[in-house]
Amino acid sequence: MTGLTQHQIIDLLRQHVEAGCAQVLTQDPVANYQPAKAADHAADIAPSPRQAPMQAPSSAPSQAMHEAPQASLAPAAIAKPAPPMAKSSAPMAGSNEIKDAIALAQKQAASADTLDALHQTVQAFEHCALKATAKNCVFQDGVASAKIMLIGEAPGKEEDLEGRPFVGPAGQMLDKMLASIGLNRDATIYITNIVPWRPPGNRSPSAEEIAICLPFVARHIELVKPEILVLAGNIASKTLLGTQTGITKLRGQWQRYQPDGMNLKTLPMLHPAYVVRRPDTKADVWADLCELKKKLGTA
Ligand code: URA
Repeated sequence: MTGLTQHQIIDLLRQHVEAGCAQVLTQDPVANYQPAKAADHAADIAPSPRQAPMQAPSSAPSQAMHEAPQASLAPAAIAKPAPPMAKSSAPMAGSNEIKDAIALAQKQAASADTLDALHQTVQAFEHCALKATAKNCVFQDGVASAKIMLIGEAPGKEEDLEGRPFVGPAGQMLDKMLASIGLNRDATIYITNIVPWRPPGNRSPSAEEIAICLPFVARHIELVKPEILVLAGNIASKTLLGTQTGITKLRGQWQRYQPDGMNLKTLPMLHPAYVVRRPDTKADVWADLCELKKKLGTA
């Protein structure tokens, strides 16, 4: 007996999953903090370098995927090869399954003709590992007919619970930022993220996860057809602009999002979560918001 109540055991399991220990059902203990993303089940499957070059979807600019930070906190003593993972339809990093998952996402995204159809398609998609640990698919918020579409990175804890993007502390900051130039999600903006499922423990989405979700984001943009795209933070900017330039250099400078047949005015901005952590960036954010307001012709 553990001496724990059923509620305590469930809470403990939940905490493990939140921290990224998604393999709660294996027989042997797993060193989830061991190198090269053992928690993503990558290192033990692909013996060669983890990052096989990725195939970016043809409907969106390539390159510039974000590397999730490598965890290196565990003492070497607990190092032990992770056991083979239980069978799952989610693809492994470095495997052909990533390419297959991207190809499938491209095909399914292309055949979604409406936002509702795309939402259903994303919700039913089983080939991104993030889905396994998320509670909800966080697809969108705001008004689809808005001139502006804002794209963030990934849902956090509150977004995962509620199934809506930007509802936690970063979301509250975003709402204040938007309100300062007269915008709000009830009428004048449409919001989504690069990945629709919360990465466990709030880590950054991996390059593979981003590549698999990208066809859906690209299709999402095509269906919304905004006049202006606002990219919040490094991951959204690098992913959709196909650049390695960081957000602190890129912010506030108008860019173009130009996959096949599209040419959208695009403004990279600091991520609201960064602004929460770094209040000294508020002057930069204000300058960028003024840029946006000017472009909307409402300044
Ligand atoms: N951060 C994001 O990038 N998106 C959200 O939805 C919430 C926090």
